[in-house]
Amino acid sequence: MSKHVARAPAVVLLLALAVAAPEPSRAADGDPALGLTLAQEWCAKCHATGRYGDSPLAIAPPFRELHKRYDVEDLAESLAEGILVGHPTMPSFRFDPDQIDNLIAYLKSLER
Ligand code: HEC
Repeated sequence: MSKHVARAPAVVLLLALAVAAPEPSRAADGDPALGLTLAQEWCAKCHATGRYGDSPLAIAPPFRELHKRYDVEDLAESLAEGILVGHPTMPSFRFDPDQIDNLIAYLKSLER
């Protein structure tokens, strides 16, 4: 009996630790609907941002194709820095982290 009593606090402590340590998540927090708004506002002049259609600027890849070239989560970093490698004709942007999470969430939604 006394063994049981001694063990109980350890179990409670473990449970508390599990609750206190949430899993790290990044783009998972983004709102794809807000990301779409952002894409339409800033990117749609050149890129096809939706599931169908051609890019207004032919050499700009449609957003639904981006994930075939690379993991779109990797774009978050370059977007945060306001640059995109191999993107000479594109103006540079500066977005805040929330906007980037939203945009990445939207791009990920196009993968499905
Ligand atoms: C003024 C036109 C223009 C606008 C606006 C624009 N892009 Fe681009 N984008 C391009 C062009 C052109 C390319 C192809 C560049 C190349 O292949 O050299 C491109 C390529 C890209 C690529 C692929 C880069 C690579 O290395 O393959 C990404 C990702 C991208 N754009 C994201 C965006 C995002 C996100 C926005 C909006 C925030 C945006 N673009 C707005 C013209 C534009």
